[in-house]
Amino acid sequence: MIQSLRGMKDLLADESERYIYFVENCSKIAKNYGFSYVETPILEETALFKRSVGESSDIVGKEMYQFTDKGGNDVCMRPEGTAGVVRAFIQKKYDKAKVQKKFFYYGPMFRYERPQKGRLREFHQFGVESFNQPNIKEDAAIILMLKEILEFFGIGYKLELNSLGCTACMPPYKENLVNFLKNEDEICDDCKRRRDTNPIRVLDCKNQNCQDIYANAPLLLDNLCPTCRDEFEQLKNILDDFDVNYTVNPKLVRGLDYYNKTAFEFVSDDIGAQSAIAGGGRYDKLVEYLDGKPTTGIGFAMGIERLMELIVMPEPKRKGYYVGALCDEALDISFKLATKMRKNKITTINYDKKSLKAHLKNADKQNAKYCVCIGEDELQKDLLWIKDLETKEEKSITQEELLGR
Ligand code: HAM
Repeated sequence: MIQSLRGMKDLLADESERYIYFVENCSKIAKNYGFSYVETPILEETALFKRSVGESSDIVGKEMYQFTDKGGNDVCMRPEGTAGVVRAFIQKKYDKAKVQKKFFYYGPMFRYERPQKGRLREFHQFGVESFNQPNIKEDAAIILMLKEILEFFGIGYKLELNSLGCTACMPPYKENLVNFLKNEDEICDDCKRRRDTNPIRVLDCKNQNCQDIYANAPLLLDNLCPTCRDEFEQLKNILDDFDVNYTVNPKLVRGLDYYNKTAFEFVSDDIGAQSAIAGGGRYDKLVEYLDGKPTTGIGFAMGIERLMELIVMPEPKRKGYYVGALCDEALDISFKLATKMRKNKITTINYDKKSLKAHLKNADKQNAKYCVCIGEDELQKDLLWIKDLETKEEKSITQEELLGR
């Protein structure tokens, strides 16, 4: 039997209900903050991710679903959403027009990771990206929106915050860090590799021995330029004013190379080892890296599968009509009736033939509000039998009465 691929899951029944509930409500909140929906292709040129997420990142280095298509193009299934949205922004020439744009998106992302609880190879993200708004207040607005989303779904979280500096303070800090790392031979092989490719990534190494060594490493937060230091202070003040709890984590570096200044991660204690439920930050140089005109950007993405484990769904309400025939002769009529009802915008779940008991059971299972049945008796009297599955009231009505509801 053919099964779905390892690390890839079907979304159906309760799961798909949860997914729709999640993205619909996130979309509502994002629209309330002035964001509009964008959809970019799942397949992109591989170069897009190499030049944005970065060649030294695990995502590009090890995890891409990359192949040559029939036209000989080097393509890749998107491992994340930001790069595609930035490409679309530039392709639409919004960078040249210098306009402010705010987008939200959701859909599947692909990373060839080792699957485990909370870590999939095909997973879904809900993300937002805001362009051309360099003010630090936008960083706060983005974090407040994420907080509002999590609170809407009743999800507890911890927020970790850091600043990754800018082109003025990051390069001298990197040099500082590399000098520190040069003398450390005991660090793991991954960190030795990162020392040459992207040194700041050593700071979030999971190896305890490395972490013991990095306890004495220089930290960027202590070496920020006055502008970055001031902005970081302002951001913390706004978050304090709006009662957002956070911890400053000077070793939070994120796994994607495009970030500068604000970087943040929301984590949950309730979903096991893969605890990051959302992450994001500023990427003021990314539009330029991808050949656009200088344009600032900031955004975040949430991992929908991880969040679906945590959301509290509202009690499902009974909805719609279940229509059923009780004998062969009634089947034509029940089919026509169901079709007319759907045309009249009445949610109609069924039309086929079963026993009354089976129909009532099915209607109940499918959470219908009413069960409508047509048997020999109803055919003779030209009536319909209807039961309200909430109040349990039963009666006979005409087709016209039902269609007029
Ligand atoms: P990211 O931190 O790589 O950021 O991913 C965001 C979220 O996606 C994570 O916090 C996690 O919840 C979820 N996630 C990542 N990998 C997996 C996986 N293998 N299985 C299940 N869930 C996963 C980004 O992707 C950036 N594009 C976020 C961003 C938007 N930054 C600025 N704008």
